[in-house]
Amino acid sequence: MIIAIDGHSSCGKSTIAKALAGKLGIAYVDTGAMYRAITLYFLRNNIDIRDARQVNHALDTISVSFKSVNGNNNIFLNDEDITDLIRTIEVSNMVSPVATLPEVRKKLVALQQAMGRNSLVMDGRDIGSVVFPNADIKFFITADLHTRAKRRYEELISFNNEVSLQEVTENLANRDQIDSSRATSPLIQLPDAILIDTTHLTLENQLNMVIDKVKEKLKL
Ligand code: DC
Repeated sequence: MIIAIDGHSSCGKSTIAKALAGKLGIAYVDTGAMYRAITLYFLRNNIDIRDARQVNHALDTISVSFKSVNGNNNIFLNDEDITDLIRTIEVSNMVSPVATLPEVRKKLVALQQAMGRNSLVMDGRDIGSVVFPNADIKFFITADLHTRAKRRYEELISFNNEVSLQEVTENLANRDQIDSSRATSPLIQLPDAILIDTTHLTLENQLNMVIDKVKEKLKL
């Protein structure tokens, strides 16, 4: 069973996807974390993303993987656990430009498709359109910009990041624009995806709604 969840940044998709996977007893894959892992490597190594040679060379030396650590699905860059390091505003500011690069997408999409040999819930921007166009069920999650910025701001503050609400709002607006307008695999709302707007929904409401749709569609 493959469940594809796409949508805007910070709309709650990862929380829904993770809870849904837990409920169904299948794996959860956060593909945004994979783009963030590559971005962290590029930032640390001053890779010029306009230079295809540098980008390709870097991609050849990077391995991105998930491993279970204390019950959490942590992300590793080569052998380093970078789960907490990819959530900074520096990585958030750079990740959308990095995710426009076709070489980066090619590498990560191949990895993601290989993970689909087992049942999973995967979230991202191009899961229903490119990674698993034949997914059993597809969701498109969104919420208004202000609500998303407030949620992400509170999350960042709780991790002791020094950031303002305005900075977070600008980052999300900018990422929405880049993610939706890039040439390779832009974020789109597919006609066969179920739309869920989380602006006025509690987490419990969101989850119940998604579970009902999954049960209905997959006749569980
Ligand atoms: O879900 P997130 O905010 O952690 O994602 C970070 C960035 O990665 C997002 O701005 C766009 C990119 N991304 C993508 O292009 N394709 C995906 N499948 C997942 C994320």
